[in-house]
Amino acid sequence: MRAPPWKSGASAPRKRFEINAGFSPGSYSPIDDGLFPHPLYPLRQTDTAQEIMTDPFALAESAAQLILARTPLRPQIGLVLGSGLGGFADSVTDATRVPYADIPSFPQSTAIGHAGRMVVGKAGSVAVAAMQGRVHLYEGYSAHEVTFPIRVFGRMGIRAVILTNAAGGINLGYSQGALVLIRDHINLQGTNPLAGANDDRFGVRFPDMTQAYSRAYRETAQEEARKLGVTLHEGVYAGLLGPSYETPAEIEYLRRIGADLVGMSTVAEVIAARHMGISVLAISCVTNMAAGILDQPLSHAEVLETGERVKSTFESLLRAVLPRIAKDVAEGSDA
Ligand code: HPA
Repeated sequence: MRAPPWKSGASAPRKRFEINAGFSPGSYSPIDDGLFPHPLYPLRQTDTAQEIMTDPFALAESAAQLILARTPLRPQIGLVLGSGLGGFADSVTDATRVPYADIPSFPQSTAIGHAGRMVVGKAGSVAVAAMQGRVHLYEGYSAHEVTFPIRVFGRMGIRAVILTNAAGGINLGYSQGALVLIRDHINLQGTNPLAGANDDRFGVRFPDMTQAYSRAYRETAQEEARKLGVTLHEGVYAGLLGPSYETPAEIEYLRRIGADLVGMSTVAEVIAARHMGISVLAISCVTNMAAGILDQPLSHAEVLETGERVKSTFESLLRAVLPRIAKDVAEGSDA
């Protein structure tokens, strides 16, 4: 069997994707940075800088320590803000903004509408770490790379994530601009971030996915949406590789297998989060009805425009949900 990529060193930043231009694993050492040993995970006597640089757990730990060294806040909730929805992070107070380019091993987003920085700050009284922009498989990143930020969240002490995305609506009950809670997903991305040797420090080999999207958090979100007078649908998200939008025949197929929404993100992140026991709330913004449903072509500009239109509703919902999730996390109830 082929060695897993991190054993062979193949997952080291590759030029092709220009991950963190200016950061080279050869020149950076978390040991020189004074980031190791970590009190929870002291280095083994045999650990070498080379081993650390090819070990995703140590890389995530090192990135987490770099971020936390820049802020006194210790967020337990992580946000991933998708296309056109990143504005929320601009409104947090006591903010520390860390460009992805400053974080060792962090993948860089190339998609338009994604700012590419981690913002640690307070939304009201709740400390959060918000990713303003994510990377996608369609940019050429591997599932391991796409989920590295979730691994970093985990090592920062994040216990719950709120993932947001732009999606195409398949369910005819939706319309452009609808907000949909993801109840479950169908992974059609052709990959899984847990493929390869399992690292037990992250989680178990075969994580359960029956309650991947916390029922308790969905109920909380529905309650808060009702109070705000916002309609919040629930649906099944089909995750595809992209970047081409789907054909009408593909959308018909997705509808028949039970998908209400389609998008190009989120699924791998949810798998990695659940692997680490992080609870998940995921909200899609239906930026367009999927291919073939309306008699019009799809465009990324439309996706960004719709994101802009629902921004304030979406942000109010986030603001209402955050303190309740923070309370759950503080009480240690695993949702
Ligand atoms: N398909 C896939 N991904 C998407 C879409 C879509 O129609 N809209 C926004 N992201």
